[in-house]
Amino acid sequence: MADQGPAPSPVPCAETLARIRQDIGDCQRCKLWRQRRHIVFGQGDPRARLVFVGEGPGFDEDRQGEPFVGAAGQLLTKIIQAMGLSREQVYICNIIKCHPPGNRNPEADEIAACLPFLKRQLAVIAPDCICALGAVAARTLLETDLPISKLRGRFHQVQGIVVMPTFHPAYLLRNPEQKRAVWEDIQQIMVRLGLPRPSRGQSRPPTGATPG
Ligand code: URA
Repeated sequence: MADQGPAPSPVPCAETLARIRQDIGDCQRCKLWRQRRHIVFGQGDPRARLVFVGEGPGFDEDRQGEPFVGAAGQLLTKIIQAMGLSREQVYICNIIKCHPPGNRNPEADEIAACLPFLKRQLAVIAPDCICALGAVAARTLLETDLPISKLRGRFHQVQGIVVMPTFHPAYLLRNPEQKRAVWEDIQQIMVRLGLPRPSRGQSRPPTGATPG
């Protein structure tokens, strides 16, 4: 038989969300592993055009292992539905994947340990737009200390993907008067994604969902 030359070098393993989850394993890269019940990896369409990134799992998310399932999550679900989408059509994840005790903000070392996995998730999903929910998500993704009030309302770029920061749904629960601002940010995303405007030319947000 003719000499076929050296064996081809192995094809590098294709990056997938499953592979990233496997790499995270039973993570102990930061101190949050000690008190967590579940690693909250992310949920939704791996080919989503829109990814929502929150701060970190709360109590309910830690219990259930899924992002945004508590009170803030219910509001996020309504916002997604007001866009004419379902949770299954987008992807939802967080800056960190383990619940910080007492719902405190994630600390720098926790973010540093977790962020590489989120970046890999975003690279695999390659959405057309990321919606950063709240100051921690926006400031971490955009590598800035600017307040969320200065960041929201306009598009930024990260990893070649456009990012729209907006207020966190938990903040909206405490400050419902900011729902209109969020709805304006969301409508900018809808235009960017070419999503049809909700019927009745809804410049007003749907009751109970966004601004109410
Ligand atoms: N708040 C977040 O930032 N993320 C969640 O998953 C739930 C609440």
